[in-house]
Amino acid sequence: MCFVAYRSTVFPQLQSKMEALLSSCKLFKHWPSILLGLLVALAIKYIKTYRKRRLRTSSWEQLEGTENVAVEFTLADSAIQPALEEKPHVPFVPGHNLNPNGGRRFYELMRGRRSVRAFNANIKPPIDVVEDCIRAAGTAPSGAHTEPWTFCVVEQLAVKQSVREIVEHEEQINYSTRMHAQWVTDLRPLHTNAVKPYLTDAPYLILIFKQTHGTTTDGRKKLHYYNEISTSIAAGILLCALQAAGLCSLVTTPLNCGPALRRLLERPTNEKLLILLAVGYAEDNCKVPDLERKGLQSIMVKY
Ligand SMILES: Cc1cc2nc3c(=O)[nH]c(=O)nc-3n(C[C@H](O)[C@H](O)[C@H](O)COP(=O)(O)O)c2cc1C
Repeated sequence: MCFVAYRSTVFPQLQSKMEALLSSCKLFKHWPSILLGLLVALAIKYIKTYRKRRLRTSSWEQLEGTENVAVEFTLADSAIQPALEEKPHVPFVPGHNLNPNGGRRFYELMRGRRSVRAFNANIKPPIDVVEDCIRAAGTAPSGAHTEPWTFCVVEQLAVKQSVREIVEHEEQINYSTRMHAQWVTDLRPLHTNAVKPYLTDAPYLILIFKQTHGTTTDGRKKLHYYNEISTSIAAGILLCALQAAGLCSLVTTPLNCGPALRRLLERPTNEKLLILLAVGYAEDNCKVPDLERKGLQSIMVKY
């Protein structure tokens, strides 16, 4: 009873006091404007964070780390500079050796290419031949004509030995722990293992580096769009040229060796090893696995 009496007298007083306080307080009187202001501030903060994230996505680190992302640029904060200076456009001169059988002849040449893992250490092809092949590779198309490749030709035995030491050390670990059992099983028919005599027997090693970016004349970083695709195309042309010159080759991509080989050859950090190519003549008793190639009907789809 006592509590009911207390409620009926004290509560209405308290309630009216609270109402008076609220109606006198400017903060509560203007709550719709304050709420709107808060919402606008939040929206501005969100837009700023989103823009920063987009800029970071198009930053160098992102380009260097992943190759397969669509390159998206938000250059609002940096001055746009042309990748190429303005060049006049000149009449296109078609190839001189236009030959309807050229494709067939090229196929006949290329079907003879095989990966050779046993090289003749005593016969060294002339360096001019290798240079011509690298010239041919340098004619490859590249993203925005950035030519993002470096071909390091190693012929000194001491350097080849250092390359071999690095590769064999890493390959021991690759074969024993890094590579999945399925990978090791898939390689078994090729008779490959962690011992790589071809790295010292082959008269030339060509280490092909992709340049993740270049430098402009005023010292800024220059974007190398699709540097891995461009360098891979150049490497393909190099393989064809070596075959046309009668030389044998082996494409290798030794796992985890890139940084050590880059340091060995004192290449800058914007260069990443893509392919380590052994080049020379095959050993007399060289054997290759009896592989079959997919036929045209399996690799071409007509529409
Ligand atoms: C991207 C790539 C990486 C390769 N890596 C290696 C390698 O690390 N070691 C090796 O002995 N062969 C390597 N090869 C050679 C392949 O095993 C060889 O091309 C394949 O077995 C087909 O044989 P063929 O080149 O005689 O046609 C590589 C080839 C390519 C295209």
